[in-house]
Amino acid sequence: MRRADHQPSRRAFLDVTGAMMAAGLTAGCTPAPARQHAPTPGPVPATGRHQAGITLPRPAQAHLLAVVADLGATVAPGPVLAELGQAIRTLTAGTDPRLLGLPPGDLTVTVGVGPRLVRTAGASLPGAADLPRFSRERIAPRAHGGDLLIQICAGDPLLLPAVASALLDQAGDRVRERWRQSAHRGAQVSVGNGLTAPRNPLGFLDGIVGPQTPAEQRRDLWLTGPPAVAGGTLAVLRRMELDLPRFAALSVAEQEAVFGRRRASGVPLSGGTAAAGPDLGAKTPDGRYLVPADAHVRRAHATVVGAGLMLRRSYSIAAPAPGLLFISFQNDLRTFTATLTHMDVSDALLPFTTTTAGATFLILPGFDRRRPLGSPLFG
Ligand code: HEM
Repeated sequence: MRRADHQPSRRAFLDVTGAMMAAGLTAGCTPAPARQHAPTPGPVPATGRHQAGITLPRPAQAHLLAVVADLGATVAPGPVLAELGQAIRTLTAGTDPRLLGLPPGDLTVTVGVGPRLVRTAGASLPGAADLPRFSRERIAPRAHGGDLLIQICAGDPLLLPAVASALLDQAGDRVRERWRQSAHRGAQVSVGNGLTAPRNPLGFLDGIVGPQTPAEQRRDLWLTGPPAVAGGTLAVLRRMELDLPRFAALSVAEQEAVFGRRRASGVPLSGGTAAAGPDLGAKTPDGRYLVPADAHVRRAHATVVGAGLMLRRSYSIAAPAPGLLFISFQNDLRTFTATLTHMDVSDALLPFTTTTAGATFLILPGFDRRRPLGSPLFG
């Protein structure tokens, strides 16, 4: 049985499908310009046990703006977060005048707090630890860490700056913006098992493996305690520049060896289907691994690393340089750090990347009218 938190996405999907079918049925008599408008995607509930913008909607919206800000040293987080939650409810409901009349569609806003704020609530809480340094980083002090993450996602890119402006205005001089990044996803491609994934800037399908089922999400994605953080999760954001000319100079076979998957289909070099994942033990008759020893899917594979699954929800970026805004959600920071440490030793993908921004956040548990955003932790 599917969990209750999956039902809205299913409903949203049916809404969209219904609208598309309606558009298709009337296509024959619709004037051409009217047909160019895609149906407005259905709303994603902002309230509930978990915040939106992590597992929902599925697939993720095409556009993202991440804003990272600091809180003034003497500012109490509780009231700021409660006000942000209230503003998120009116913005996603489309009743906030600061949306300037734009339909919110599938708008989601996901809020996280950085390690400094988490430590003020408890030094041993999940999210209290900073992200360690790794190789191939060139991170300016300004683009490292931060107190507050506001992840805004929507199918309509016009919404993003309006929503960021409304939320920063709501917080006023209690917060100071640190860095922001806008990012986008291409078309979703079917990978089997009812799953889809977009291509990343290197041309490969990205986001196939992860905690997809409710049982996997309970095990590896959502925090179950202590009560102040239950229903939340931990986010890692890393902006990576990608060396596109050097990657494009490789043959397709060499590119596929870097990832361990076929570029066109996402099928592992060991065969099978994209969604089924790689068979890391499979060898050629002369004893070579079909998925090379330094292929990214081997180095990053959960069982090889000995860590849980992370929900990767990355977006492509065009500026300040072409690359990826890597975003992962997991209930243990070690899932991320152990994976990247394992990749650091020898991952054929890493030499093509330079990380220029990085931060980790405790994504707050879901909220509603009676339980304001952030209240279990800072209330
Ligand atoms: C710019 C950098 C990166 C790119 C372009 C990239 C791309 C990809 C692609 C195309 C796949 C295979 C398809 C899939 O399973 O989604 C993949 C798998 C994966 N990546 Fe990355 N990735 C990057 C960095 C990272 C980082 C920094 C981590 C975590 C530390 C990571 C963790 C993983 C994991 C866990 C998998 C699944 C492996 C498996 O079980 O098959 N990736 N990545």
